[in-house]
Amino acid sequence: MTMTEATLFVLLQLLVAAGAYGVRAQGGDAPAGAQGRQVVDVGVILDRKTWVGNISWTCIELALEDFYADTSHAGYSTRLKLHLRDTGLDAVSAAAAGVDLLKNVGVRAIIGPQTSTQAKFLAHLGNKSSVPVISFSADCPSRSGLTPYFFRIAWNDSSQAEAIASLVQRYNWREVIPVFEDDDSNIKFIPDLVDALRQVDTRVSYRCKIPPSAKEDDIRRAISSLRDHWTSVFVVRMSNTLALKFFQLAKDEGMMGEGFVWITAYGLTDVFDVVGSPALDVMQGVLGVKPHVQDTVELQNFRQRWHNKYQSENPGTSLTEPTVSGLYAYDTIWALALAAEMAGFVDSDFGLSVTNNGPTDFDRIDASKPAKKLRDSLLNVNFSGMSGEFQIEGKQLVSVNYTIINIVGQKGKVVGFWTPVYGISSSLNMKDGLHTVIWPGDNETQPRGWLLPWNKTLKIGVPVRGGFGEFVRFEDGPKGFCIDLFKEVVSDLPYKVHFDYIPFEDRIGESNGTIDELVYKVYLKEFDAVVGDVTILANRSLYVDFTLPYTESGVRMLVPVLDRRKKTAWTFLKPLTSDLWLGTGAFVVFTGFVVWCIERNEQFKGHPASQIGSVFYFIFSTLVFAHREGMVNNLSRIVVIVWLFVVLILQQSYTASLSSILTVEQLQPTVTNLEEVISKGSHVGYLNDSFLPGLLRSLKIDDSKMTPFDSPEEYNEALTTGKVAVIVDEIPYLKVFLKNYCHNYTMIGPTYKFDGFGYAFPLGSPLTADISRGILKLESNGRMVELQKSLYGDNSCPDKDDSQTSSSLTLRSFQGLFIISGACSVLALTLHAVRTIYGSPHGWSSARDLSLWRGWLVILSKLFHKGGNPSNTPDNEEPTVPVGTSTGDTGSPPEGERTSGREHSDAEPPSFPLLRGHSGRRILSRDGSSLRRRQIEPCNELHGEFMAPEADRSM
Ligand SMILES: *[C@@H]1O[C@H](CO)[C@@H](O)[C@H](O)[C@H]1NC(C)=O
Ligand SMILES: *[C@@H]1O[C@H](CO)[C@@H](O)[C@H](O)[C@H]1NC(C)=O
Ligand SMILES: *[C@@H]1O[C@H](CO)[C@@H](O)[C@H](O)[C@H]1NC(C)=O
Ligand SMILES: *[C@@H]1O[C@H](CO)[C@@H](O)[C@H](O)[C@H]1NC(C)=O
Repeated sequence: MTMTEATLFVLLQLLVAAGAYGVRAQGGDAPAGAQGRQVVDVGVILDRKTWVGNISWTCIELALEDFYADTSHAGYSTRLKLHLRDTGLDAVSAAAAGVDLLKNVGVRAIIGPQTSTQAKFLAHLGNKSSVPVISFSADCPSRSGLTPYFFRIAWNDSSQAEAIASLVQRYNWREVIPVFEDDDSNIKFIPDLVDALRQVDTRVSYRCKIPPSAKEDDIRRAISSLRDHWTSVFVVRMSNTLALKFFQLAKDEGMMGEGFVWITAYGLTDVFDVVGSPALDVMQGVLGVKPHVQDTVELQNFRQRWHNKYQSENPGTSLTEPTVSGLYAYDTIWALALAAEMAGFVDSDFGLSVTNNGPTDFDRIDASKPAKKLRDSLLNVNFSGMSGEFQIEGKQLVSVNYTIINIVGQKGKVVGFWTPVYGISSSLNMKDGLHTVIWPGDNETQPRGWLLPWNKTLKIGVPVRGGFGEFVRFEDGPKGFCIDLFKEVVSDLPYKVHFDYIPFEDRIGESNGTIDELVYKVYLKEFDAVVGDVTILANRSLYVDFTLPYTESGVRMLVPVLDRRKKTAWTFLKPLTSDLWLGTGAFVVFTGFVVWCIERNEQFKGHPASQIGSVFYFIFSTLVFAHREGMVNNLSRIVVIVWLFVVLILQQSYTASLSSILTVEQLQPTVTNLEEVISKGSHVGYLNDSFLPGLLRSLKIDDSKMTPFDSPEEYNEALTTGKVAVIVDEIPYLKVFLKNYCHNYTMIGPTYKFDGFGYAFPLGSPLTADISRGILKLESNGRMVELQKSLYGDNSCPDKDDSQTSSSLTLRSFQGLFIISGACSVLALTLHAVRTIYGSPHGWSSARDLSLWRGWLVILSKLFHKGGNPSNTPDNEEPTVPVGTSTGDTGSPPEGERTSGREHSDAEPPSFPLLRGHSGRRILSRDGSSLRRRQIEPCNELHGEFMAPEADRSM
């Protein structure tokens, strides 16, 4: 028992002991023809000056009439006799009336303490005297539950909390402020409501309590305190009188307008029925929750009769509805009457029970046996009442479904229901959306559940840094990428946000602390947000909510690059690897040999040494397409064409490679990874006031090796002078740095995962989600790319790493070509050999074969003979090759073969459509006739070709 209760009890005892109360029986008369019927006295404590009290009394009277008029109850042996005590609403007079009823009337039950405070005292009194105390309008007066003799003929409040929470969840409101009268009636309901809201992840960060005795100024103050919060969803429960005042003032303050949500809990929802138009006028758009009562014929009948009776007793009233609590009062009487009959009283039950002789009236009140019987049977009463199925569970009525009404115009429109099965729905029997709700401000658009606080200008902290002004800097106000982006996002929001940028600086304009400290100031509510290059970090997110990152994320290394390719006198050899050079050489020799073999008799005549000379001259000249010798034999033509194709490709590749080597710098990073830096013991640079020391320490870099820098200029200087080997920093900073210093530096290394920059807001701020959404929107509509382009520059600096360096051409790349060329040569040689051997009708082939070998020997011996001067110009006048001489002796067959070859060549013009002259200009191939002329005078051939005839040059 609390102090107040104790004091009140003492006061009560004094009052009762002084005998200030006379017995004054009121209420129902003894029923007619009561002979032989047990009268069960029932006390009624109401305040008929209040709506609830007056309505309930009318209902109670009607209930008593109806019950005993009902034919099925005609034979009942008990009759209820009501004793009304019309007290005030205060606890003392109710308690005094209770003592009086118990002591002087000897009631078996007490109905109707109207308020929770009254109920609290009477419940204790009932407990002491074993008399059931039944309330239909008081809310649960204690947190711990009800005493054994206190009943609430009303639904459990907690079930309504669940319905309200479902409604809040249905509309996705993240935060709710309960506004309630700070008295006993909300002692249990508000904690239940908060619990239910928490279950659906809705926050309750503030509760607005209004004392029952609040004056207009107090209420005004409470209302303006609501405006200082971001939340615009309120759940209200207070007495009707207070509520009427409250909503009137809220409307004056502009809080019944667009963007606000008001939900009235049951207990207050009746105010619409009771007060009518004055309440409806100020409460437009309010949502109310009240117990769902099935509309039956009996109920409609009852309503009519109640209305008539109430009208006659209270002329001029505007009340049309008995309200739900009136229906509970009706059902209470029925339940008591049924319970009294069920209790089966006998005469002995009604003997004098006052046996105690204590010093106070309280002591003299004894436990009443018949009342106890009545209580026990009340627990088992079960019938279909006006308010629905009557069944007591946990000393309260079993709650079922709730109706959700919306005040539109002059009536409460039913917009939906809450049922335990389907939750919030527009119908009792299926899951469905709610009907259209008209919200405050006469708008159908669902409020988002929060508003910027009244007259609020957000104080936005902006970091002050020495460098990297591209992100944030102050020059005639804040500028930079972070600010521009924030402005765009905010201007895109569907509502207006006022804000001021406040630089986080000290008196001399330097940063007044670290970024961490700036972020912490948001937690301390000194700033409402931080806009700037603030990296999203786990330890920072303990104090603020970050939006989604708006920059690339990650940490990489910045290192200088050097041109690794030195240009020397021998650079021209670089394009081809040595094996490719050797391979090409080998193929030159091989192809030369094949051509010589085939064309031996036609083109290359004369001294063996001069033959070798001319063969090599010929074949080397093909490398630059400067050869002129016409091929006579088709086989050698094919060999040469394929070879020329190889040469073409080789030459093009060589040219391209050489020019890239000579003109393109091959920039390579001086360092390729951090391990290298660590092992060399070099220093590592990082951005001052960043989280990087932590990262570097985790990478096992000693603190003494870390050097902080402030700006890109310092980065450049430190890297140029070798003060640090690398800079480790976040990618956005490095990209900004590379915008100006792209040429000499590159980003390398693995990307350490970090989240990039985000805007910081207080924990739970509704702006976080909207700003994040805005950032995503800018990203998807391409605006972000434009902003980043202006930040990083148009030409992004390419990564320079090893993979980009061009390497020399290898033999492998030309393998295919060499295989084709080689295969052609071998094939041609074979075909030539076969044709030579089998082509002779006289079988001289063996002799010719022999002479071939002999010819080779002669060539070799001559070579060794001449030794020092192999480059001697071959003598034209010399008799042709000894081989030729020897074969010439044998007569016509070689001649015939030669002729046939020539004829062949006549039929098919040589296949050199385009050839390159000495000077590199393209000239048309010789026509058939010139070829023929040369072939007729073979002896002049070599010589003539070396002299480059006029006709060719002119072409
Ligand atoms: C309560 O709602 C359920 C559906 O969830 C329905 O079956 C039942 O009849 C309703 N009860 C009352 C009393 O309206
Ligand atoms: C309802 O609110 C929305 C958004 O605030 C507004 O665009 C619309 O015009 C309003 N409608 C009415 C009928 O006031
Ligand atoms: C809020 O702004 C209104 C007008 O915009 C002004 O009349 C009122 O005094 C301001 N209230 C506060 C608390 O600044
Ligand atoms: C700098 O920070 C200190 C401590 O946080 C604070 O007391 C001081 O007012 C700040 N200075 C300025 C110029 O804001």
